[in-house]
Parts: sequence; C-alpha cells; structure tokens
Amino acid sequence: MLKGTVLLPGDKSITHRAIIFASLAAKTSRIEGALLGEDCCATIQCFQQLGVEIERVNTTTLVITSPGVEQFQQPEQAIDCQNSGTTARLMMGILAALPFQTTLIGDESLQRRPMQRVAQPLRQMGAQIQLSQTGTLPAVITGQRLQGITYHSPVASAQVKSAILLAGLFADGETIVYEPEQSRDHTERFFAELGFEWQQINQLTVRVTKHQRKWNFPDCYHVPGDISSAAFWLVGASLIPESIIEISHVGLNPTRTGILEVLDQMGANIERQEIDFSGEPVGKLIVKSATLQAINIGGAMIPRVIDEIPIIALAATQAHGQTCVSQAEELRVKESDRITQTVQLLKQLGAEIMETADGFIIDGPTPLQNQGVYDSFGDHRLAMVLAIAEAYLAVPMHIKRRKAYCVSYPDFETTLTMLQQEARISGINLKK
Ligand code: S3P
Repeated sequence: MLKGTVLLPGDKSITHRAIIFASLAAKTSRIEGALLGEDCCATIQCFQQLGVEIERVNTTTLVITSPGVEQFQQPEQAIDCQNSGTTARLMMGILAALPFQTTLIGDESLQRRPMQRVAQPLRQMGAQIQLSQTGTLPAVITGQRLQGITYHSPVASAQVKSAILLAGLFADGETIVYEPEQSRDHTERFFAELGFEWQQINQLTVRVTKHQRKWNFPDCYHVPGDISSAAFWLVGASLIPESIIEISHVGLNPTRTGILEVLDQMGANIERQEIDFSGEPVGKLIVKSATLQAINIGGAMIPRVIDEIPIIALAATQAHGQTCVSQAEELRVKESDRITQTVQLLKQLGAEIMETADGFIIDGPTPLQNQGVYDSFGDHRLAMVLAIAEAYLAVPMHIKRRKAYCVSYPDFETTLTMLQQEARISGINLKK
C-alpha cells in the first residue's frame, strides 16, 4: 500500500527553459520550485561557463544574475551536457548564433544520441556545427549570423523544435517550424510570457521572428511539479491495492497530460482538480488503486506520453487484455533504447511482452516475480520503473545503477519510503 501527499520535483523541461531564458536577460531573476537534478544542473553549469552567475539558494531555488546574452564569453573548456539531451540540443540552437566557438560533450549515453536532427536545420540557417562521423557529440559550434528558415521536422520532438525556435530568436527574418505531431510547447509558452514576436499558426506550426528588443524575464518565476515524475506515483498507486496518494502543484499542460488520458482509459481512479492557469496550467491529482484494462497507444498520443511509456508498460503487465504501443520508435534514441530495455526488464519480471520495431505488445495480467539481478542501464526512468515494480512486489530487488533516478527526481527514493511508511502507520491505526 502507498499513502500520503507527494511534493513533486519541479518540471524538468520547464526548469531547463527557465534557466535558459533567465540567463539570456541582463538582470537578476529568481526561479522557485526548480528541479535541481543532474540534467538541469548540466544546463546551469553551461551558463556558468558562459559567464552567468547562478546561485542555489536552497534545494529548489535559483538566483540567476546575468550580464545578458550579448556579454556571454567563450567558455575556456568544453561544456559537459552530461546525460541531458535537452541541454545539448537547446544549447546548440543558442550557441549557433553567438560570436565564438564552443564544444559540447556528454556522458556515454548522450554521446550515442542523434544530434544531426538539430545540426542539420541549424546549418540551413547558416550555423557552423561539426559533429562526430556518426552524427553525435562532441559538437564543435562556431557562432555565425543566422538566417530564418521554414523547416518541416521529420520527428515530433520538442528538443528539435525548441533548438530551431531559439536560433530563430537570433536569426534575420522569420523562422517557421512544422511538426508531424504536436510536441510539448513549453518554449512557446515562454515566448508568450516574455513578449517575443511569435505565432502559433496551428497546432503543428510555430513562427518566430528575430528578437530585437531587450531580453526580459520575470523577477520571480515558479516552476510547476513534473507530471512525468508524478506518473510513477499514478501507476504505483493504481497497481498497489488500497493505495491513495495526493499530488499537488502538478503541471497540467495539455501537451503533457497524455498519461492522465491513458490511465483514465485504462480504468484508473484519478481525480483531477485544475487550480491555477498562468502560463502553465497547474492542479492537484488524487489517485486510488484500481483494476486496469489494456489499451492501444499510438499516433498523436505518443509525443504526449513519450517519457511515460516505460511506466505505462509496467501498468499494462497488470491490465486485463492486450496492450499495444506503436509508432513509438523515438523511444529507441532516449537515454537508453527504451523499447528493448523496457521489454527486457519486464520479461525478466515475468511479463508477457513482445518487442516490435516501433513499440511492444503486452498481454496481461501476469503475476510478476523477482528473479536475478536487474539493471537500470543508467536510465533514470527505467530505474524508477524498477523501484515501482519492487514496491508492487513488496520484496527487495537487486537493482544495478538504482540511483540513476537522480537525473530527474533526486528525492524519488525518500518519497517512496515516506509513502510506504505512511501506509504502514495508517494500516496499524486501522487495526487498532
Ligand atoms: C523534452 C522533450 C522530449 C522528452 C525529454 C524532454 C524537452 O524529448 O523526451 O525528456 O524538454 O524538450 P524529444 O524532444 O526528443 O521528443
């Protein structure tokens, strides 16, 4: 049983962007509710190397004092984006326009991920970017004067879209990006909040023109909780009998709430209250355990649940019927190949799961069992899938690279222990 109230970490995507936009403006800004996990710290370090002063006031607050993007300095060393694809790709969009040379590197996982998808459109804008022979990091970027382009992206990726749009803020003329399906729109919401000249032409098309005024950022910006982190509790509480978890201040941006629609369709018991809507919608979720049904997921839903698919797969092992995830080949180029690795881990747990080229098929429900040594492959989301499976099984599992969750959810283990303890206390009180 899991019981209690969860204080979520700040949204990872929004924290990256808040750090970026606050750093571009010549002023002091405060970011509250920020996620200071390893990924966002890579973005912080990146701007520190460019000459921005960033102070951590406490575990969720940053104070950023920037001389402004016009004063950024060539970093003395290569910038290490660590495990963070968002840092590497979004920074490429900005660095492509700055008048010096930068080198971006990353950890073993990031050095395997495709960067051509960003470098290629940026080169069309006039950028000079050199990648490895296989189109990966390290990237050597020599800033140039950029020209706006119209780009039809072959992938629905907010990182690709955002890199081009960020470059578009520095490029002459206008820049238009079309996507095959809508990806998360946090960059565009910042454009609206910061008064940039831009337009959402339709759901799949965004236009931006060169930013020629003073760069601005609010004195204080508050980051909502991360729904992708909440997903682990939504599935955990759904699967573990008699659970009830309240999750407050969670971001409910419609480009991210696919997990709620998927779990709703699966028969989950989730109550949703929308509380605040300023820039990013925010609300509260209450989840109770439920019997789940199988579901088909594909098409426009995929970008809206892209980071939640591994934990949805765990839910599907306990759902009645056949779950089919298709058109999700993007998962193969995440922090790990999340199709192959999810299938391997769930098979090892006893699930009936079959890998396909662009997803997987799961037959449920099957009893799960703890057998052998599990490995997160250093992928934060897979580490949390395994920890939720462990809580569900209620037996300790041997999980290698268990702490990979620190990339996006440093307090994950502490929160899980708290929810288990509260459940035990309420169980004792019930018996009394
Ligand atoms: C992100 C976009 C998504 C997501 C990633 C964060 C972002 O990746 O998987 O965790 O902040 O823009 P893609 O843009 O590659 O789809």
